[in-house]
Amino acid sequence: HDNLVVLGIETSCDDTAAAIVKGNGEILSQVVSSQADLLAQYGGVAPKMAEEAHSRVIDQVVQEALDKASLTEKDLSAVAVTIGPGLSLCLRVGVQKARRVAGNFNLPIISVHHMEAHAIVARLMEKELQFPFLALLISGGHNLLVLAHDLGQYTQLGTTIDDAIGEAFDKTAKWLGLDLRKSGGPAVEQLAREGDAESVKFSIPMKQHKDCNFSYAGLKTQVRLAIASRNIDAKVPISCASSQDRSSRADIAASFQRVAVLHLEERCERAIEWALKIEPSIKHLVVSGGVASNQYVRARLDHVVNKYSLRLVCPPPNLCTDNGVMIAWTGIENFRAGRYDPPPPAKDPEDFK
Ligand code: KG4
Ligand code: ZN
Repeated sequence: HDNLVVLGIETSCDDTAAAIVKGNGEILSQVVSSQADLLAQYGGVAPKMAEEAHSRVIDQVVQEALDKASLTEKDLSAVAVTIGPGLSLCLRVGVQKARRVAGNFNLPIISVHHMEAHAIVARLMEKELQFPFLALLISGGHNLLVLAHDLGQYTQLGTTIDDAIGEAFDKTAKWLGLDLRKSGGPAVEQLAREGDAESVKFSIPMKQHKDCNFSYAGLKTQVRLAIASRNIDAKVPISCASSQDRSSRADIAASFQRVAVLHLEERCERAIEWALKIEPSIKHLVVSGGVASNQYVRARLDHVVNKYSLRLVCPPPNLCTDNGVMIAWTGIENFRAGRYDPPPPAKDPEDFK
């Protein structure tokens, strides 16, 4: 199985990604084409537009992944592709591409769950990471605490009752007039470094609920009100703000980030206590998904796990945000476990429509 060569394709949201990974964990290539420019222009993901953007670049992204690995489709052992969760129009672009490649070259197809892949990619980086482990998955659309018993076997300890933390970062960035051509999260993280995190008194969500669920809608509202009460105008880009205006935006960014992450810390502590009762042998907390690339998040959660003598495992930032490597690697783990589909017919019935 070490000689497997798997192409991973990811199109669930706004990034078109492909990568080629070997069974021994070697990453042969990795390509991500981002729609950040479109997002900045329209202030969010519009499914139809995102689908068209994926369709425009998918062939090129896969070809580039092959070229960078100095391979052709004939060298592949299997194709792994995200089948959900995500925007169905977008997912279909990836699945159809995977079926075309697999059909033409008689390759098995491995269906991959996007959130499982965010967690499982940690095992590619950290060879010691055995099941069972606890995982916090934090992205634009999801906020999950799961106990991973084995591949494909998870107990959900908590989820968001409204918005995910990444959504709160993205809206905060927009309302603070930050440059959205990179995604909102990194822009808030960067500005927060200049601010006083204690200056704006946001309250921690769901303090009275002694569970592992999350809520970020209320914090979003608190941020919006704080911005309005300070007369910050998002139409004035941060690059044009006066130094006083800039520092008041930075204070909001820092205070928001602090409380958003305090909510994660509190939930993780409880989840660790719950998880240790169910699976006393756990040794790791995996933190992955786009927001896990945030350095402040990593530092604070590192502190939490140390209290319980656990280890924090965070994939490098480019494997935390959506990527093809996590799909290829999760495909490899599933393939080894015998979970894959036989090659589809060379001509996909979809092509005749
Ligand atoms: O996992 P991901 O790439 O896509 C989804 O599956 O949603 O996560 C994207 C989210 C966005 O909301 C983005 O703003 C956030 O992750 N993000 C960050 C950072 N980098 C990305 N949030 C906070 N700090 C960051 N450095
Ligand atoms: Zn994701």
